[in-house]
Amino acid sequence: MQVSTCLFALCSAVLAAPRQENLLRRATGSLTSWLAAESPIALQGVLNNIGPNGVDAPGADSGMVVASPDQVNPDYFYSWTRDSALTFKCLTDQFLAYGTSGLEAQIRDYVNAQAAVQTIENPSGGLCTGGLGEPKFYLNQTAFFGPWGRPQRDGPALRATALIAYARYLISQGESSSVSSIIWPIVQNDLSYVTQYWNDTTFDLWEEIDSSSFWTTAVQYRALIEGNTLAGQIGESCSNCVSQAPNVLCFLQSYWNGEYIVANTGGGRSGKDSNTILASIHVFDPDASCDDNTFQPCSDKMLANHKVLTDSFRSIYSINSGISEGSGVAVGRYPEDTYQGGNPWYLCTMAAAELLYDAVYQWKRIGSLNVTSTSLAFFQAIYPSAAVGTYSSSSSTFDSIIDAVMTYGDSYMSIAEKYTPSNGSLSEQFSKTTGSPLSAYDLTWSFAAFLTAYNARAAAMPASWGAASASLPSSCSGSSASGPCSTATATFTSGTLTPTCSAQPSTTVIFNELVTTTYGTNIYLTGDNSELGNWSTGSEAVPCSASAYTSTNPLWYCVATLPAGTDIQYKFIQVASDGTVTWESGSNREYTVPSNCAGVAEVNDSWQ
Ligand SMILES: *[C@@H]1O[C@H](CO)[C@@H](O)[C@H](O)[C@H]1NC(C)=O
Ligand SMILES: *[C@@H]1O[C@H](CO)[C@@H](O)[C@H](O)[C@H]1NC(C)=O
Ligand SMILES: *[C@@H]1O[C@H](CO)[C@@H](O)[C@H](O)[C@H]1NC(C)=O
Ligand SMILES: *[C@@H]1O[C@H](CO)[C@@H](O)[C@H](O)[C@H]1NC(C)=O
Ligand SMILES: *[C@@H]1O[C@H](CO)[C@@H](O)[C@H](O)[C@H]1NC(C)=O
Ligand SMILES: *[C@@H]1O[C@H](CO)[C@@H](O)[C@H](O)[C@H]1NC(C)=O
Repeated sequence: MQVSTCLFALCSAVLAAPRQENLLRRATGSLTSWLAAESPIALQGVLNNIGPNGVDAPGADSGMVVASPDQVNPDYFYSWTRDSALTFKCLTDQFLAYGTSGLEAQIRDYVNAQAAVQTIENPSGGLCTGGLGEPKFYLNQTAFFGPWGRPQRDGPALRATALIAYARYLISQGESSSVSSIIWPIVQNDLSYVTQYWNDTTFDLWEEIDSSSFWTTAVQYRALIEGNTLAGQIGESCSNCVSQAPNVLCFLQSYWNGEYIVANTGGGRSGKDSNTILASIHVFDPDASCDDNTFQPCSDKMLANHKVLTDSFRSIYSINSGISEGSGVAVGRYPEDTYQGGNPWYLCTMAAAELLYDAVYQWKRIGSLNVTSTSLAFFQAIYPSAAVGTYSSSSSTFDSIIDAVMTYGDSYMSIAEKYTPSNGSLSEQFSKTTGSPLSAYDLTWSFAAFLTAYNARAAAMPASWGAASASLPSSCSGSSASGPCSTATATFTSGTLTPTCSAQPSTTVIFNELVTTTYGTNIYLTGDNSELGNWSTGSEAVPCSASAYTSTNPLWYCVATLPAGTDIQYKFIQVASDGTVTWESGSNREYTVPSNCAGVAEVNDSWQ
């Protein structure tokens, strides 16, 4: 018996290639199982890095987010305003979409922590004298005085967006008074920072280039629009938001060079940079049109940019060699990158997928999609017969293109799956030559990037922020407007919101099966429940993943989401490459799906 221990690339070189449909089916089944298994790991990975109780954030104050527990080459044991805000935007959306227990208490801790962090005198200044642009702090809420790339003017805008997401929820719950007294004072300071400094240079999100940056301009625009809307909802106003936003939007247009978005005005590079796709998924608005002004995921400029950017990594990382155009690759920050060896990043690779899921959502909601001369090359790479035109959702071409874009998105997530270790840890980078994890381990932003991509794939979308209202002035002007600014004094009382544990209605069960298989044989789970395919041995059965399989631990795992409390019967089957089905012997296995707060359970079996 030849045990399948070779890496996939090697196997396909030395063994006869299985039929194409088997390959595709295996890829799809495996990705779905991996995504379901990785999801609770990623959420836990984020929570582990938040003080005061996160197991990987010892000593961090309440609500402070550790960028990574790594303290040596690189030392990321600090709290960045950017990473923290993106993390809490993700957790707030997670809370709103799934009501995940315990998260609201953490969100309130974050709000309280940021009220304090805003007041810390630091090398960029004080609260009302530029200090909000300081990029990172110690975990005990003190300033870091070492040399650094400062200021970074995206932080206040991102924090405003994270806080506004929670404020919207509170208003919907009739708790506007907490928004007025606790959240608005913090947000107002951040908005004032943006209106005063948006037209000054900044270090980019990678902390390397001091110029103007597409990412920063885009996130600033979003904050001003939704900040002004929030103000109106609680009887406040932001007249400086109103006066500055059109100029910011106008400036945003200038990064497009006719072929792609030049990420920074300085730096002397090609300007191809994941900065741009990260910006697009951050300003994604489920209610927006595919209008180019805000560079929505479905806009033709952003799709063209997605192609130019991702193509730039095809030839420079050897793990991408042999992957055809139109299939996802490992994506890094920018092609000229040398930091920590200049490798692909998990969060950039998953952002490339998320952008495509977002675009699909927008086209489906609008009910049509346009292929334009600008986006034609993007579409032709994944759907060769694509032609310029408008395709209504009632046409078969629309369906085919949507399928092709989803598959293309999944191919980026499959790259992330392939290079994620079997315990689900996500570091910052993975090697461009071997794919093994590199640089800071358990990076908070990597886990958050998984969650936002996962939710976008499931069409669990964040709230609209008003992108549809964007209107461009006829000409651009540089400008600035300052004030108001004052210390935010009110905070949420800790302990008023006891994290409650409410059992989830369904449970994602990971079925582990130890079974030694030969190459070409796949394992499926089938049983007496609709989710398990009603004892089907065909496409309704649950495909299992061999991504953690080794010769010493021949583990296949299968994931199914089942109603909590249900009694099920099931068995594993082997399906050979010629389609022959082999059932496990013995009587049916029996299991009662548990009911718990996390909504996750695990069963360990071996072939009988
Ligand atoms: C805060 O943490 C830093 C880094 O660990 C440490 O050097 C500093 O003394 C601490 N400050 C206070 C006030 O605890
Ligand atoms: C397609 O293009 C037309 C004409 O420019 C425009 O009105 C429409 O909004 C576009 N639709 C989408 C989904 O981009
Ligand atoms: C996960 O696996 C990686 C790679 O094998 C290892 O370096 C890391 O320590 C593991 N993490 C945990 C939390 O066990
Ligand atoms: C300020 O805005 C003007 C008008 O859009 C633009 O030309 C200029 O480059 C901007 N400068 C910076 C540093 O943002
Ligand atoms: C399983 O059987 C139930 C009840 O007959 C049916 O509603 C459901 O569609 C079936 N599911 C599959 C995947 O065959
Ligand atoms: C399944 O096996 C794993 C690895 O040996 C172990 O950590 C886990 O606790 C087991 N789970 C159950 C439910 O027995």
